[in-house]
Amino acid sequence: MSVRVRKAIFPVGGLGTRFLPATKAMPKEMLPVVDKPLIQYAVEEAQAAGIEEFIFVTGRGKAAIEDHFDHSYELEKTLEERGKVSELEELRRWLPRHGSVAYTRQMAPLGLGHAVWCARNLVGDEPFAVLLADDLILSRRPCLAQMADAHASVGGNVIAVMDVPREHTKRYGIVAPGRDDGRMVEVAGLVEKPAPEKAPSTCAVIGRYILDPSVFAHLGKGMKGAGGEIQLTDSLAAMIGASPFHGLRFEGKRFDCGDKVGFFEANLAFALARPDIGAAAREAMKPYL
Ligand code: G1P
Repeated sequence: MSVRVRKAIFPVGGLGTRFLPATKAMPKEMLPVVDKPLIQYAVEEAQAAGIEEFIFVTGRGKAAIEDHFDHSYELEKTLEERGKVSELEELRRWLPRHGSVAYTRQMAPLGLGHAVWCARNLVGDEPFAVLLADDLILSRRPCLAQMADAHASVGGNVIAVMDVPREHTKRYGIVAPGRDDGRMVEVAGLVEKPAPEKAPSTCAVIGRYILDPSVFAHLGKGMKGAGGEIQLTDSLAAMIGASPFHGLRFEGKRFDCGDKVGFFEANLAFALARPDIGAAAREAMKPYL
């Protein structure tokens, strides 16, 4: 049995240039899929996996995220006065407990590995999760909860993986697979954004990680990798062999919300899956198909 995962890091420092002009004055993590910001999906997924402490690694211009996970006094008072009880309850349902959210700034855009390292003092010496809000997953059981189950039995590092077309390997961390039972794959190697002809497989890392805190020592070396950035993947690769390391082929469909078409598709899929608007959304789509 391994230690329960209680803390999660949300790297939200990125500029979101791919979504300009929408992200000029608004963090990309606040872009809504249907009616909920991407970052809230990630936080709710973490809550469903038993996470108790939420660590945001932010940057300049990200204050809207802090406001989102706080009470909105004026809004709540107005809803109360108007007797909008269910809206008020819904607004408060997902708010983290007082004191369970922490923010730290990534003071320079040096890469995902650097962002995670910036949270080292807030995490301390226990296993933790990392969730990238760009990767949105529609599943029966939330992806991180599936990973926490796996982590409880195998320990070490557990990362979410899925197979991608070979021509897309340049977008992902790619696993060199060891033993593979179809659901869990042993990570024998890991390389960030390899060209298709160099990729050791088509098994790609998706933005959900449960990691051993020893990763911080590797990240602390500040080694630059693909794209001249401090890559999380490189520090993970350095940990192979030191403790168990598995990729979990999670149940669910992942949408790349860092990409315009992926984001559009997520909106379609999430609208269609919603009990309240699914049927109407299907009807509204008909003339375009
Ligand atoms: C990051 C990671 C990459 C991973 C991907 C998943 O890349 O560096 O290993 O496969 O997230 O979305 P990014 O999308 O930030 O370039």
